[in-house]
Amino acid sequence: LNELLAKRASELSLILSKEAAELLNELPNALQVIEKIADAPDAPMVVSKQQVAQAADQVEAENKSPKVAITGGNTYQPIAADIAADYNIYESYDISGKSRCTGKVEDFVDYFKDRYKKLSTILKSRVSETPPTSIRALDSYTKGRLARVIVMVMEKKETKNGHLIVEVEDMQDSLTCLVSRDSPQKLKDAASNIGTDEVVALEGVMSKDLFIVRDVIFPEIPIRQKKLADEDVSVAYISDMHMGNRFFMKENFERMIAFLNGKGTPQEQEIAGKIKYFAVIGDCVDGIGVHPDQEKELYTKDIYLQYEIMCEYLKQIPGHIEVFVQPGNHDAVRLSEPQPRLLEEFVKGTDGYKNIHFVGNPSMVDMHGVKHLLYHGNGADGLIATIPALKNGYQQPEKVGVEMLKRRLICPTYGLEPITPEARDYLVIDEVPDVFAFGHLHKNAYADYRGTTVINSGCWQSITDYQVRKGHIVSPARLPVYNLHSGNFNLMHFEPQADKEVLPE
Ligand SMILES: [Fe+2]
Ligand SMILES: [Fe+2]
Repeated sequence: LNELLAKRASELSLILSKEAAELLNELPNALQVIEKIADAPDAPMVVSKQQVAQAADQVEAENKSPKVAITGGNTYQPIAADIAADYNIYESYDISGKSRCTGKVEDFVDYFKDRYKKLSTILKSRVSETPPTSIRALDSYTKGRLARVIVMVMEKKETKNGHLIVEVEDMQDSLTCLVSRDSPQKLKDAASNIGTDEVVALEGVMSKDLFIVRDVIFPEIPIRQKKLADEDVSVAYISDMHMGNRFFMKENFERMIAFLNGKGTPQEQEIAGKIKYFAVIGDCVDGIGVHPDQEKELYTKDIYLQYEIMCEYLKQIPGHIEVFVQPGNHDAVRLSEPQPRLLEEFVKGTDGYKNIHFVGNPSMVDMHGVKHLLYHGNGADGLIATIPALKNGYQQPEKVGVEMLKRRLICPTYGLEPITPEARDYLVIDEVPDVFAFGHLHKNAYADYRGTTVINSGCWQSITDYQVRKGHIVSPARLPVYNLHSGNFNLMHFEPQADKEVLPE
């Protein structure tokens, strides 16, 4: 018997016959089967092969047909059922079916050109006393004259004496910039937070061959009024269920599905009743072969079964709610971003359900006039690893979201996270979203930033061994609900401690 199974069996005081152990070793969901045997009211001391087989059948049947356990709420009348859906999935923001990348050097050149073009257009539109110029034109500047260049950052390094050297490029030329260690702290902080492959404006003066930086300007999003919808409808967001992993919080998730179906207190029903849209922001299933120790955590290694479980749940969401499902880094699409939508072969279980839509990662979806940028969030890891301002990023996902908006890039640095160089850079935040919703960090977060609502959708997976090792603090089984009409935000609690009550925070 493998070590993990043996450990669990002994914890549950189960003794396995030789044949039972052999059969267990072959089962993809052995752990779940062991739990099942132990759970039985007449749990045997010595487990036979037949008992294992029986429990395995039960587990498989249960995995295939998740059940909503909560009853009640017969008088439920969701107001959203009487409001017509009004949504638009922006085709041009979605890579699905459009990838033309062949991985040639030219692809990378085109990719970064497109990024530079888009972000420099944004930066040029910023009002400034110093009009932007090209690196080449700096030659004609008289000594000490302030200049502004719009550049892509190639490399950043600190010198022995504590100065910062930033190597940059525009479309024609390269330039070596220096941020002196004697600069004001604000400038030093800004400079230390620029990442490779980002596009920024730098203001400064030439001194011999060096451009001495005086100011760093990020592309940023403009300050706006919060965009609200005319009708009283809400959006709920989930991500990181990791179905197929034994840490998926099945019971809590099923209570959430029950809540969507109006099985709750009058107050819960009122909140649930306004939900018109439901965004699923990636890591729907746990996948297979994602990280070396993953196998031990899986109760099924069958990727089709993992998606079957997901589809069964999606189908239990009331039909008047429009559901948008996006992949994440654990899903069965290419790992590098942008990711296309889930393949038909995995999601055919939802065929005929017209309210369930599969979209790419990232994607832009207008819901009742409120533009949502949905992004699983892979780029967060690279930013947290390299940006000093985000050193507590795993605890403060909202800050990570804000830094992405500031850079107008969701996955800035090539090489930190896998990116496919498409001719168009799907990772640039071209259009300013009204809501920016992401996941991946497994921790709920909310912020208002310059009129954009930033939401992290948390997770539906309890803390894993991997997260324990990494020291991540997660917030599982909480459902963010954002009302598009009032701009109010509710975090609904379905975690074990919350017990029966599902009251907003
Ligand atoms: Fe995840
Ligand atoms: Fe993820």
